[in-house]
Amino acid sequence: MHEPPKLTPAVLLTREQIANRVLELAEQISADFAGRELLVVGVLKGSWMFLADLVRLLTVPVTVDFMMASSYGSGTDSSGIVRVVLDLKSPVEGSDVLVVDDILDSGLTLRYILDDLRRRRPRSLKVAVLMDKPERRSTDVTVDYIGFKIPNKFVVGYGVDFAERFRNLPYIGYIDEPAAKG
Ligand code: IMP
Ligand code: MG
Repeated sequence: MHEPPKLTPAVLLTREQIANRVLELAEQISADFAGRELLVVGVLKGSWMFLADLVRLLTVPVTVDFMMASSYGSGTDSSGIVRVVLDLKSPVEGSDVLVVDDILDSGLTLRYILDDLRRRRPRSLKVAVLMDKPERRSTDVTVDYIGFKIPNKFVVGYGVDFAERFRNLPYIGYIDEPAAKG
């Protein structure tokens, strides 16, 4: 048996701060899509908790689907070589699509996913991210809804992991820059 990790990440965003902001985002998205139906596309795995809270607060009809992309490269930097490892089941053509992701970092993964979805000719394509690390951006990617702009720290919790751990933390914490990211 492995020793369970003893580390308790320091708090960056409390569950109250997250809940308040997710409600604001949901109100804004519901207003922007009033009268329409949304195909919400969660980018696995990090977005799952954010997505679960967000869709419960939307007042427009939604369908939910998931994609998983994996980016080659080691250490904390994306290589930019991205591969879709789990694709949507839903057709995208003609749909109003909202992509939901956890963290916008270099932007390479999200950019790849957006380019891929755009080729499937959605009626509209918007993006919501819970956290944005603007300092780390290495490619142009436009997002429509941002929960929090955060400093360049390695964050965990509320769906986000370090080596698959901490996804179940109810808050966003940070830990000292580890050697790898998930
Ligand atoms: P990008 O392609 O560099 O923008 O990578 C973004 C992805 O890297 C996010 O969706 C996360 O899965 C992961 N990531 C980036 N920063 C962190 C972090 O601070 N903690 C955990 N995962 C992170
Ligand atoms: Mg991700």
